[in-house]
Amino acid sequence: MALALQTTDLVKEYPRRRSTPVQALRGVSVALETGRTLGIVGESGCGKSTLARLLVGLEAPTSGSVELLGEPLPAHPHRGLLARKIQLVFQDPYSSLDPRLTVSAALGEVLGVHGLAPRGRARQARVEELLAMVALGSRFLQRYPHELSGGQAQRVAVARALAVEPKVLVLDEPTSALDVSVRAEVMNLLVRLQDELRLSYVFISHDLAMVRHVADAIAVMYLGRVVEEGPYDAVLGASLHPYTRALAEAVPTPDPVAEARRRSKPVGEAPAGTGEAPAGCPYNPRCPLAEDICREVRPELLELAPAHRAACHVAARHAGVPSAVLGSPWTA
Ligand SMILES: Nc1ncnc2c1ncn2[C@@H]1O[C@H](COP(=O)(O)OP(=O)(O)OP(=O)(O)O)[C@@H](O)[C@H]1O
Ligand code: SF4
Ligand SMILES: [Mg+2]
Repeated sequence: MALALQTTDLVKEYPRRRSTPVQALRGVSVALETGRTLGIVGESGCGKSTLARLLVGLEAPTSGSVELLGEPLPAHPHRGLLARKIQLVFQDPYSSLDPRLTVSAALGEVLGVHGLAPRGRARQARVEELLAMVALGSRFLQRYPHELSGGQAQRVAVARALAVEPKVLVLDEPTSALDVSVRAEVMNLLVRLQDELRLSYVFISHDLAMVRHVADAIAVMYLGRVVEEGPYDAVLGASLHPYTRALAEAVPTPDPVAEARRRSKPVGEAPAGTGEAPAGCPYNPRCPLAEDICREVRPELLELAPAHRAACHVAARHAGVPSAVLGSPWTA
C-alpha cells in the first residue's frame, strides 16, 4: 500500500547552555499507510510532540528526513505548497485559536492566506461548509474562542486544519484536554472525517486506551526512540517489549478494585530526554526482566514477528532472532 508519510532516522537535539543537548528524538523511523491511522504512544517527555512538529515541518530535524506523499518535506521556513498537505491539531484548542478572531474570521483568514476561496459569498459559503463538516451550525460563526466549550473549540481547530484540504492530519493528544464526556464525540467526529475525506492520521497519545479505538498500527516510544511497532492487534495483543506491557497494564479498567490497585502502582517517571540515557537498553533501570547484557548493549529495533518489531534482547531471544548487536551472545 502507498505510504502517506515516512520518516527516516529522525534525530532532534535542542542545545542547552553549558550542558549536553537535550536529545528529544534519537533516530525515529515510522511509516503511515494512506487512509490509515498510526498511533504514537509513550509517556510524557518521550518526544511525541517533537516528532509531531518535525512531521509537519514546523521544526527542522538535526538529521534524518520526512517524506510526505512520496516527496521530501522541507522544514520551516521553506515549507511550500507540499506542507499544506499535512496539518497539526494541538492538544489545547484555545492555544491554537486567536482569541481576537471570531470563528468565521479565523476560518476565513486561513482560506484567504492560501488563496483558497475568493472574498465574499464564496468564502462565506466555504466557511459554513467547514463548520458543518465538524458538526457545528452557523450560530457559531460569530463566536469568539472564549465563547466555545473545549469540545467546540477543538472542532473549530479541526475545521481550520481541514480548510487547506490536507491529506494527513497529525493529532497531538487531540482529546486529552477535553472533558471526558465530550472525548468520545470528538473521537467519533475524527473517525467520520477520516472516512469521508480519505485522510491519513498520526494519532499521538500518552494513553494506550485512546489509540486503541482508532489506530491500525502503533509505534511505542521511549526516551526518543521507537521501542516497539507493528499492527495494532500484534502490539496490543502480543506485546513484545516490557515497556509496552507496562503501558497496557496501566490502561484503566472498569473494575474499581483492580483500578485502585493499578493506581497505587504507577508506571513511573521517565527520565527526561537528556543526553544522559543509561548505557545499554534505555529501559533497563525500570525493566523487571533486565539482564547483564541489558546494562551494556543497546538492543536494535528488529522484526521479531511478521511486520512486528521490538528493541529488546529478551524478546529477540524468545523469538529466536539473533541480535544484530555485535558482542551480544545471540550474534551467530
Ligand atoms: N524547544 C525545546 N527546547 C528544549 N527542550 C525541548 C524542547 N521541546 C522539547 N524538549 C524536550 O524534549 C523532550 C521531549 O519533549 P516532547 O514535548 O516532545 O515530549 P512529549 O512526549 O510530547 O511529552 P508530553 O506527553 O508531556 O506532551 C523533553 O525532554 C522536553 O523537555
Ligand atoms: S533489553 Fe533488557 S532491559 Fe531492555 S526491555 Fe528488554 S529485557 Fe528489559
Ligand atoms: Mg506532547
